[in-house]
Amino acid sequence: MNTAVFCVHRDNPDPRAVKAAGAMLREGRLVAFPTETVYGLGANALDEAAVESIFRAKGRPQDNPLIVHIADAADARRYVRAVPEGAAALFKRFWPGPLTVVLPKSPAVPDIVSAGLDTVGLRMPSHPVALALIRAAGVPVAAPSANVSGRPSPTCAAHVLEDLDGKIDAVVDGGSCDIGVESTVVSLCEDEPVLLRPGRVTPEELISVLGSLRQDDAVTRETAPEAAPRAPGMKYRHYAPRARLILVRGSEQAARSRILAEARLAPGPVGVLCFDGEIDRYPGMTAISYGDRDDALSLAKRLFAALRALDQTGCRTVYARCPDDRGMGLAVYNRILKAAGFEVIDA
Ligand code: TXA
Ligand code: MG
Repeated sequence: MNTAVFCVHRDNPDPRAVKAAGAMLREGRLVAFPTETVYGLGANALDEAAVESIFRAKGRPQDNPLIVHIADAADARRYVRAVPEGAAALFKRFWPGPLTVVLPKSPAVPDIVSAGLDTVGLRMPSHPVALALIRAAGVPVAAPSANVSGRPSPTCAAHVLEDLDGKIDAVVDGGSCDIGVESTVVSLCEDEPVLLRPGRVTPEELISVLGSLRQDDAVTRETAPEAAPRAPGMKYRHYAPRARLILVRGSEQAARSRILAEARLAPGPVGVLCFDGEIDRYPGMTAISYGDRDDALSLAKRLFAALRALDQTGCRTVYARCPDDRGMGLAVYNRILKAAGFEVIDA
């Protein structure tokens, strides 16, 4: 299949391109598009065959449910059994934006979207291209991140094509994503709200609206494969570069000494995923910075691109400096921990 590329302006996308891509979605085809978090691989959420083709194109396990994207918060009630007070408050405060809310689903959502669960994740993105496209499609859009399953999520159209060129009908190229890690996922299906995946919307912000929040164990710990995690996607290896990635926790000084020592024994070439200003402290290694250590948003924005770039250099072992896990840092920490398959060294 030939993958069409529609290049559009981020804030003012050409209505003809949006209309054409929207029609493709409505007709059951696969169209990747930018959101404020990462690129999504969209299909008409009401068309079972189209949704099935998402799983095929990504090589995604069948038991991992998809998020349904809408362009109007008022549409949420069509796809859930009810909108509880907490959910309404979250929509009001954080939509459009990088928050997915999981609620008991209505019969309108096909089982294949929710991977057989009786719940559905809903999100209204804020990216102007995503909103325009969903409106043009005239249907809710099921969209996982537009990467081959297990690979780092795509933060620009080139990443989408790297993984999916020839396997999907089109990509709408609206430039790079502002946030760079996927939406925060919160479930309101239990007695207490549960954080399933950290993102730009922080635990503190959720608590300010919901009053309380429990963090799912899978956010920072490896789940046993036989356990049934609340977010089924949590149990799979994620965001992984081809190299073996090892997270090194500790001060700059301690981490550097440890990395230099470990690197002598590791299968090479060896790479380092470091912070701004540290690149020349790792001589003889391919060092790539993923941002300012004191600015979680800058780390989030560049993390996945840096993981892909390290693969391009052919590194076999990569050591990564560990981000602070507070506030939005928790999202960066969670992604890099998963990319490392939970392999952590305390320096
Ligand atoms: O920012 C995002 O959320 C991006 C953009 C494209 O919107 N989408 C995204 O989708 O990250 P995906 O499929 O790559 O990740 C969705 C995560 C998975 O971990 C999945 O298991 C979880 O959300 N999820 C989806 N529906 C769920 C449900 N009903 N219950 C629990 N977890 C759910
Ligand atoms: Mg994903």
